[in-house]
Amino acid sequence: MARRKKIYEGKAKTLYEGPEPGTIIQYFKDDATAFNAEKKAVIEGKGVLNNMLSEYFMVGLTNIGVPTHFIKRLNMREQLVRAVEIIPLEVIVRNYAAGTMAKRLGIDEGTQLPRPIVEYCLKDDKLGDPLVTEEHIAAFGWASQQDMDDILSLALRVNDFLAGVMYGVGIKLIDFKIEIGRVYDGDFQRLIVADEISPDSCRLWDIATGRKLDKDVFRRDLGSLTDAYTEVATRLGVMPKGSTPMARPKLIN
Ligand code: TYD
Repeated sequence: MARRKKIYEGKAKTLYEGPEPGTIIQYFKDDATAFNAEKKAVIEGKGVLNNMLSEYFMVGLTNIGVPTHFIKRLNMREQLVRAVEIIPLEVIVRNYAAGTMAKRLGIDEGTQLPRPIVEYCLKDDKLGDPLVTEEHIAAFGWASQQDMDDILSLALRVNDFLAGVMYGVGIKLIDFKIEIGRVYDGDFQRLIVADEISPDSCRLWDIATGRKLDKDVFRRDLGSLTDAYTEVATRLGVMPKGSTPMARPKLIN
């Protein structure tokens, strides 16, 4: 079989050239990193779960009219997506205080915010993805004012969708991060949701018990990350109950 061309290897995904121009294959790895890759592990099955969950959210967004880069899932670990020009910002939406915001502002984790708060971090691992303001974004030309209006609108629509879907299965959407890509259709350009949406980039708390069902389980050593992600996937009906994402074919004698 012909070797595929690797375009980029990130912390949790590898990108390969797609079959048609303008397409990319996203391969979801089992690698988990936290604290800017200071903490690392391989968590068997994580890539499969994130591939399926990201497909579920991206398809849902497409169905309610929010444009995304998702084309189709190819297999357990890969999906075909549109190639985009990534805007160099991590777009974070918060409904409850947690993580860096709770620390920065001295607010107890879990405090409900008066309204969803959108923050921007510069995508730069060397700098540790620093928080930036719209002034920085405009002055350094990372995105235009029109882009920022579109990004805010996309981020809030994704938030309403995700928060609603999660609420329906007894999960509170504390916060999440998305990335936005630019695509060109002839003379026109527009912004669409890109990258992935998975428990790697969200904070999800069980409403009944407060149990964490996201990457904080790994960051804070709270138990099995695959159990947590599998719980999210089974509640959403993405994985059949009792299935294991890393199950290997069994030899039959
Ligand atoms: P935040 O609390 O700012 O950072 P940390 O995860 O380091 O405590 O993160 C807010 C949400 O955005 C959280 O669900 C994790 C997600 N996020 C990412 O997935 N990648 C990133 O690079 C950043 C900055 C945030």
